[in-house]
Amino acid sequence: MNKAIILAGGQGKRMKADMPKPLFEVLGEPMLNWVITACEGAGIEDICVVKGFKGEMIDEYLGGKYTTVLQAERLGTGHAVMQAVPFLENDTSGNTLVLCGDAPFIDPDTIRESLGQHIGDGNAVTVITAELDDPHGYGRILRTDKGIRGIVEQKDATQQQKLIKEVNSGAYWFRTADLIEMLGKLTCENAQHEYYLTDTISIALAEGKSAGAYKSANADIIKGANDRKDLLELNNYARMAVIEKHLINGVGFVCTDGIIIERGVEIGAGTEILPNTILRQGTKIGSGCKVGPNTVIVNCKVGDNVQLNAVQAYDSEIESGANMGPFVHIRPNSVVKSGAKIGNFVEIKNSVIGDKTAIAHLAYIGDSDIGRKVNIGAGTVTVNYDGIEKSRCSVGDNCFIGCNTNLIAPVALGKAVYTAAGTTITRDIPDYALAIDRGVMKINEGYTLRKLSQSKKMAEKKK
Ligand code: UD1
Ligand code: CA
Repeated sequence: MNKAIILAGGQGKRMKADMPKPLFEVLGEPMLNWVITACEGAGIEDICVVKGFKGEMIDEYLGGKYTTVLQAERLGTGHAVMQAVPFLENDTSGNTLVLCGDAPFIDPDTIRESLGQHIGDGNAVTVITAELDDPHGYGRILRTDKGIRGIVEQKDATQQQKLIKEVNSGAYWFRTADLIEMLGKLTCENAQHEYYLTDTISIALAEGKSAGAYKSANADIIKGANDRKDLLELNNYARMAVIEKHLINGVGFVCTDGIIIERGVEIGAGTEILPNTILRQGTKIGSGCKVGPNTVIVNCKVGDNVQLNAVQAYDSEIESGANMGPFVHIRPNSVVKSGAKIGNFVEIKNSVIGDKTAIAHLAYIGDSDIGRKVNIGAGTVTVNYDGIEKSRCSVGDNCFIGCNTNLIAPVALGKAVYTAAGTTITRDIPDYALAIDRGVMKINEGYTLRKLSQSKKMAEKKK
């Protein structure tokens, strides 16, 4: 069976953060995850990650889903792969892909096609390469008339070799049994005194095995990040690649400023995305919507013809025709049903808001089930937490909740209930009733005039 080893031992000192480099994010996802999803996209499920610096953070991130091995000392890429020999020995029948955990743009097509060439040519090792205008820092591919002869690292290269533009991507296919054998033959006789995985090419050839290079037409597969500036470049590159895909699908962008759309987000044709909008993983948006400006949506399902202006919404569902904003906060586990209108300064949490219900301004609705065609007045608050427990409120269809109503949970309002402005509801209210809870209003006539004349007299006395 084919499997993969991902090298993720690097610290990334130049990132200036206490975290393994492969965990730095590109478009909201650790680079390591980009590499893993590329493997899985190519049908490789058996994956071993070689960890080193802060390896426990890699384990925590992977959550036990993949094998990991620790490279306690950083003695080179060959040494890193040696740590995975027990993983290789589990099944030596197929081929093993070796990838760098900090080069996120390797893709399933490249993995599949290079495997095809690797198997077709009967190679012990096939290195994935690309041509770069500026090959500085990379291992150079030494070609012959027939094939390749080896890889020379920047630090070991002659002036002539440094002119070569075809470089080692750091990704390879190996015949698993050959890889195990060749790892045993690596030495550290080189400029960096490291075990170079790249030496497997010359070792294979010296033993009469065949070795080859698969040259990728897409040089981006090599892109990696050594510092924050590189990481920003990777993010910009990935960001525009995703936006271009949505443009092709018929999504509208007047300008792309501040727009970040993570991988896997789905958007229907005819939807328009406005500036400063962040759409995170798990989000699915229908067609004909207007999303933004200044909107963040995380893991939400949004229907068609929805308008979201300055909205933050998390782990929720917003049905077709809903209209929200500006300044709306939808917290997890909420459902806003079709045609509902949520206006400025409204917070909704763990609640269902019925069809065509209006919550036009300044309200908090938490742990509640609000029916259809309800009107919720400004200042309405569900008092869902008593300091110990959270409880639910329910409001029936066609209710009219007056301004500044407090609903002390748990409480249930029937159908078409009215609550008078300023009422605090502490008991269930039956269908069609009016709930009013107010002190008796008194009118003290002439009060202001009396007060004014009193203060005038006081001022005269002082003189
Ligand atoms: C390596 C290749 C070079 C290639 C380049 C592509 C070797 C000797 N050289 O160079 O030909 O062009 O990658 O980026 O292989 N790692 C470990 N443990 C180690 C050393 C490295 O886990 O002891 C991991 C790193 O975290 C990284 C990957 O291996 O994910 C590549 O290491 P890096 O130091 O970047 O390799 P280079 O020397 O730049
Ligand atoms: Ca490198």
